[in-house]
Amino acid sequence: MITEVVKIDELNIDMEKIRKAADILKKGGLVAFPTETVYGLGANGLDAEACRKIYEAKGRPSDNPLILHIGKTEQLLQIASEISENAKKIMDAFWPGPITLIFKKKNIVPDSVSGHFGTVAVRFPSNIIARTLFWEARLPIAGPSANISGKPSPTKAEHVFHDMNGKIEMIIDGGSCDFGLESTILDVSCEKAALLRPGAVTREMIENVIGKIDVDEAVYKKVTGNAAPKAPGMKYKHYSPDADVKLVKGESKKVTEKINELLSEAKSKGLKTGVLATEETKMFYNADFVLSAGRRNDEKEIGANLFDILRKFDELGADIVFSETFGYSGEGMAIMNRLNKAAGFECLEV
Ligand code: TXA
Ligand code: MG
Repeated sequence: MITEVVKIDELNIDMEKIRKAADILKKGGLVAFPTETVYGLGANGLDAEACRKIYEAKGRPSDNPLILHIGKTEQLLQIASEISENAKKIMDAFWPGPITLIFKKKNIVPDSVSGHFGTVAVRFPSNIIARTLFWEARLPIAGPSANISGKPSPTKAEHVFHDMNGKIEMIIDGGSCDFGLESTILDVSCEKAALLRPGAVTREMIENVIGKIDVDEAVYKKVTGNAAPKAPGMKYKHYSPDADVKLVKGESKKVTEKINELLSEAKSKGLKTGVLATEETKMFYNADFVLSAGRRNDEKEIGANLFDILRKFDELGADIVFSETFGYSGEGMAIMNRLNKAAGFECLEV
């Protein structure tokens, strides 16, 4: 299959291109689209056969359900059967935007798409290209991140092309994603809301609107044995480049010293080494490749760069990557969740 890449300018949306993309979706094909978080791989969310192609293109385990995307809030009524008071408050505060909500679902949504829990995850993105596309298609659009399963999510159209060329009909290039980390997932289908995946809408922002929430343990630690995270995707090793990722945590000077020690060890074994550093520390490391995620106190910048940098280490051919860690407050919780997952939740403290 030839994958067509179509550039769309969000300040001047070409409706002809949008209609062409919407037609592919209506006919059961796959179109990758930009959002403010990461690029999504879209298919008609009410068509189990179209969604099966998503699983095939991504190599995604079939027990990992898909988020359905909408272009206007009225599309929510087509797929969600109950909208709790908490849900309404969160929608008022943060939609459209980078938070996905879990609702009890209507029967029109196939179980093979949304999972066998009787729920559906719904996202109403703020990205105007995505919203125009979903509304034009007049369909809820299933949209996992447009990466090969297990790889870092794509934050640029080039990343999607790298993973999906030849497997899907179209990629809409809408430039770099603003946030660069996947949406927050909040379960509002039960009495007490629960955070299943941290993102740009932070725990603090949510608690300011609806009070205390639960946080699923899969956010903080590796789930083992029979324990199951509430968002099935959280159990897979994820976001990881081909290189081994090792986290080193502690006071800045000690971290730099420890990483340099580990770098010499790795080099003596003939490994190609990388360091995920910050603007403040990048000059101190003796690695083959030192990439800065941004300024240490700018969580937004670090979040936006993280996946691009993890992918760059692969392009460069790093075998092992040592990374500094960040605080857990605000968006730091999402950054650390993705880094922890890349490192299999192992972290060396110095
Ligand atoms: O930012 C995002 O959310 C991106 C963009 C494209 O919208 N999408 C995305 O989708 O990250 P995906 O499939 O890569 O991650 C969706 C997560 C998975 O961990 C999945 O297990 C969980 O949402 N999920 C989907 N439906 C669910 C449900 N009914 N209950 C609990 N978790 C669900
Ligand atoms: Mg994903």
